Amino acid sequence: MNSSIYKVGIIGLGQIAYSIDDDSSRDIIWSHALAYTKHPGTEIVAVCDIDSNRIDGFKDKYGDLNEYTEYKDMLNEEDLDIISICTPTEYHSEILGEIVTQSSVKAIFCEKPMAPSDSIARKMVDLCKDHGIILAVNYMRRWDKRNLAIKEMIEKKELGNLLSISAYGATAMLTSASHLIDLVLFFAGKPLWICGDIQTDFIRKVHGKVDPGGMAFIKFENGSYAFLKCTSTDPIYYMFELDLLFAEGRITIADDGRNYRQYIFDDVVTSTGSGYKSLVETAAKWDSGKNERMLNAIDDIIDCIENNGTPKSNGSNAVDVLKVISLVQKSYSNGNETHAF
Ligand SMILES: NC(=O)c1ccc[n+]([C@@H]2O[C@H](COP(=O)([O-])OP(=O)(O)OC[C@H]3O[C@@H](n4cnc5c(N)ncnc54)[C@H](O)[C@@H]3O)[C@@H](O)[C@H]2O)c1
Repeated sequence: MNSSIYKVGIIGLGQIAYSIDDDSSRDIIWSHALAYTKHPGTEIVAVCDIDSNRIDGFKDKYGDLNEYTEYKDMLNEEDLDIISICTPTEYHSEILGEIVTQSSVKAIFCEKPMAPSDSIARKMVDLCKDHGIILAVNYMRRWDKRNLAIKEMIEKKELGNLLSISAYGATAMLTSASHLIDLVLFFAGKPLWICGDIQTDFIRKVHGKVDPGGMAFIKFENGSYAFLKCTSTDPIYYMFELDLLFAEGRITIADDGRNYRQYIFDDVVTSTGSGYKSLVETAAKWDSGKNERMLNAIDDIIDCIENNGTPKSNGSNAVDVLKVISLVQKSYSNGNETHAF
């Protein structure tokens, strides 16, 4: 990393921009503002929200900086290096379309879901590519070092072939459960086909838009399968758990990523009888301590700016999440038929 301090602007000053970290029960950084403030390579110089009360709330916490109620004014008047898009999802593509025309901007850190549909998201990816702008999308678990260690174990087949993933999340596939879908894709790779169903007994609305839950069964190009439960009768029944089964072991991720465990099939005598191998917990290769994935995200964005790289969570994986959701919806409309990815 060189010694520059990158100038940051944030558009949309709500929960994920900053107020999510007001909850003292959270023990790691979740918001863009706290991550940029703690990171030595970035400085927030300008913020924008259409609601001036939100700007006041932000300034109470982060002090005086250049403020705007119209993001186009902020783009015209500031020379920003990195811009976070933290508005409701329906505005991401319009805002990104204006940001890419700014010559100073090197990277965009866009909230997830990137767009309401995979076709809009794909256009956003193309726009960033055409303008040579790095696009990171906040599926922050891709910057968690434990998930990166598991991904490496899968690639090196350290526990044998990955056979299946069972993943349990809560309702709202576009918002809450999209992190779960993304992490399954991160581990298992490209899907071959998908079938699914949409939850009908409880339909969540987020920012006034219907965001249904769903179930999915996916086969991947590497021969593994995933079952995804992205339903609940209320978002307060929150789950984020994955169970990865391998030919020679198992990895479980529970308590929203606070509890990672690794097992191998070993020669132990159990009441199943002799001659069988059973799953025995074993030391994991990852550090099980706290993981500041938002700081890792900013490290990655800066590294991509300086070395012309692609962020670990980028437009391409964000499009794939939206494609999975659209195929679950299509399968539901077609009597749960299987659809090629
Ligand atoms: N990564 C995560 O875990 C996570 C968590 C929560 C939300 N999100 C995503 O972040 C985005 C924002 O969600 P939120 O919960 O923070 O919403 P929020 O409603 O708390 O905040 C959004 C803010 O954007 C402002 N805004 C709306 N239109 C604007 C515009 N054109 N220009 C400037 N400001 C504008 C609103 O006034 C509001 O203050 C959504 O895409 C959501 O899905 C991600």
